[in-house]
Amino acid sequence: MLDPIPSLAELHRLGAAQQPAYPDADEVARVLAELRRRPPLVFAGECDELRSKVADVAAGRSFLLQGGDCAETFDTVTAANIRGKLRVLLSMAVVLTYAAQVPVLKVGRIAGQYAKPRSRDTETRGATTLPAYRGDAVNALDFSPTARQPDPRRLIEVYNHSAATLNLLRAFVTGGFADLRAVHSWNSDFVRNSNVEERYEELAAEIERALAFMVACGVDSDTFRTVDFYSSHEALLLEYEHALTRIDSRTDTPYNVSAHMVWIGERTRQLDGAHVEYLRHLRNPIGLKLGPSATPSEAVQLVERLDPDSEPGRLTIISRMGADRVRDMLPPIIEAVEDTGREVAWVCDPMHGNTFETSLGYKTRAFSQVADELNGFFDVHQELGTWPGGVHIELTGDDVTECVGGVGELAEADLANRYETACDPRLNRNQSLELAFLIAERLTDGRIRRVNPVQEYSAEDF
Ligand code: PEP
Ligand code: CO
Repeated sequence: MLDPIPSLAELHRLGAAQQPAYPDADEVARVLAELRRRPPLVFAGECDELRSKVADVAAGRSFLLQGGDCAETFDTVTAANIRGKLRVLLSMAVVLTYAAQVPVLKVGRIAGQYAKPRSRDTETRGATTLPAYRGDAVNALDFSPTARQPDPRRLIEVYNHSAATLNLLRAFVTGGFADLRAVHSWNSDFVRNSNVEERYEELAAEIERALAFMVACGVDSDTFRTVDFYSSHEALLLEYEHALTRIDSRTDTPYNVSAHMVWIGERTRQLDGAHVEYLRHLRNPIGLKLGPSATPSEAVQLVERLDPDSEPGRLTIISRMGADRVRDMLPPIIEAVEDTGREVAWVCDPMHGNTFETSLGYKTRAFSQVADELNGFFDVHQELGTWPGGVHIELTGDDVTECVGGVGELAEADLANRYETACDPRLNRNQSLELAFLIAERLTDGRIRRVNPVQEYSAEDF
């Protein structure tokens, strides 16, 4: 077993990447003392439960759907916004569960996704250069010196907004909103204006009939009424993550209690860096982003570091190679990691390797490229006989215009209509549903090696 969690000072000595430069160390200390007193947002036992569910993904028995904003903002912590994101994730999960007949593990990029790594420390507009926006956890998006000054008190706001979000999510998923008999109502306030909506409505009607049949047969299970939903975010700001790390009294081991799952981003995955050192001590299930610069031997070293005990469900590898590279770059990484004997969950992030800027200056992604990277991911796993375990997506429940293409055929000129993201462009509701149908098609095309979950159970389980 590993030692208890290293101190913040030890972590900083390793040269932590992507950290804000706070002007007042005493203020930071006060904030951290306050955060350390706050109650956990999640219970360590829930993290253990998620770890065993990720193990099911790794073993080919389940599919992980992880999604939400690129960057949550304090202003958008409203009931409507949270409900919108949950609704699109649940709708996607229903498409996957029903059309592909595979259990879906639902994890939000939500209730803590407030800090962003940036490729440049500063932003220049005209003659003015200011610190880059690093997420609401650090500073504000407005382009002014006061707004861009890193403020540690924002970490308390991260905690408060995460708590409020998680509280509502927990109420939604157990209090009736997620009832499968409500699949139609998740869509009711939207005009049926696309064939994706129509396909969804047809599927919802079929589910309703199937449920009515089961209830008529006397089967009426709680599993129709509630869903398991977990929170996750990038563990970027060491101050915040460290203050929300607690020793679990049941097991005497450290958990990050600010989310069920936390991941290491592409820019902070240095083998000897502070983030790897911090995350390797946690008992939570953890994610590791791998981009096109990752080599197979680097991947193996990271995996050995982060999962020394080859524990099922410990690691989710989230690849984000880009549509034109996934077919070449991913196979040697999968082979090298599989050769270590570990069963990791292989998940595709088809967003971050496919970002470009339009001539009008909008950061965007093309739905066709997102779909192409996903198809490449499925092709690679099909070829290798490994299980394509899930997707990691930036999405929102609103009808934003941030990514081009998809069923609405959004053009670059349309982006100005409703471009609201605080960071990267997200799929809107229709584009997300369209992607879910595409994934369901790939999962059912018969060439993917899959374990039939039903065969895994014995008669006594029913
Ligand atoms: C993100 O997930 O928003 C992100 C910054 O991704 P990556 O670390 O893969 O670049
Ligand atoms: Co992003």
